[in-house]
Amino acid sequence: MEMEKLVEEIMRLKEERNAIIMAHNYQLPEIQDIADFLGDSLELARKAVDIEADVIAFAGVDFMAETAKILNPEKTVLLPTRRATCAMANMLRPEHIIELKKRYPEAPVVLYVNTTAETKALADVTVTSANAVKIVEKLDSDVIIFGPDKNLGSYVARQTGKKVIPVPEHGHCYVHRKFTLEDVERARKLYPKAKLMVHPECEPEVQEQADVIVSTGGMIRRAKEWDEWVVFTEREMVYRLSKLYPNIRFHPAREDATCIGMKAITLNHIYESLRDMKYEVEVPAEIAERARKAIERMLEMS
Ligand code: 13P
Ligand code: SF4
Repeated sequence: MEMEKLVEEIMRLKEERNAIIMAHNYQLPEIQDIADFLGDSLELARKAVDIEADVIAFAGVDFMAETAKILNPEKTVLLPTRRATCAMANMLRPEHIIELKKRYPEAPVVLYVNTTAETKALADVTVTSANAVKIVEKLDSDVIIFGPDKNLGSYVARQTGKKVIPVPEHGHCYVHRKFTLEDVERARKLYPKAKLMVHPECEPEVQEQADVIVSTGGMIRRAKEWDEWVVFTEREMVYRLSKLYPNIRFHPAREDATCIGMKAITLNHIYESLRDMKYEVEVPAEIAERARKAIERMLEMS
């Protein structure tokens, strides 16, 4: 089907199903263009709390759709393709947490929302890159178990002065791990006036070179502060920023910083998803209940 017709059909189905499309900032441009709500992980979780539609078609990776389902158990949440998964979330398994908890029984378990519902059920609180520092500061403990992103964990440790025990030991995002000091050097040569905005999932030595270290939502909020930026995160963020601020220049730090899970979703998947009501996100009630407590605590604390 042609793109125009596809969009028309999606709009028709959305109305028929009383559905909305929520999308993460890393989605393909044509999906960003038709989304009812676009945001970072925290904004998407917040928005999920007060949705009136019956159906949420979620253009993002599976843990984000699961979070929406956990917060909206009575609604139908659709993930347009099962291939939309987060490699980092899949690195952390419940047994990693259970094992570490035996060694640090007093330490609260703080989990990035980039986790499966099963592991969230073992968390005291979840965080996103937008609120991790604030939440860890508020916790009444100087030692925390934090996972799965080691780089976000070490960023939190530097900012709060607390001891962070990573779980698993080497959890990371392969997209953000691509950025190196050579990319920083190249960016400075090519765009000498530009400032660097860096996601906290990047390596610590890249973070050290940053003008701002922020979530994707933070990038949107801080972009107004300068007129040229090099963006160290998934490359579609540049589309999102450039559309919002046509008078500011944004350059991707690497053209190949692509999240395969995010890019697995196409407009055609969204169309088929609303047409056939697939793939319905299900979270077992007992896991959902425990995970919801950790997510709600995050929403209260941030
Ligand atoms: P944000 O919360 O900053 O959008 O990050 C989500 C993510 O998956 C980053 O890779
Ligand atoms: Fe997961 Fe990395 Fe993709 Fe974000 S960019 S969804 S952390 S794999």
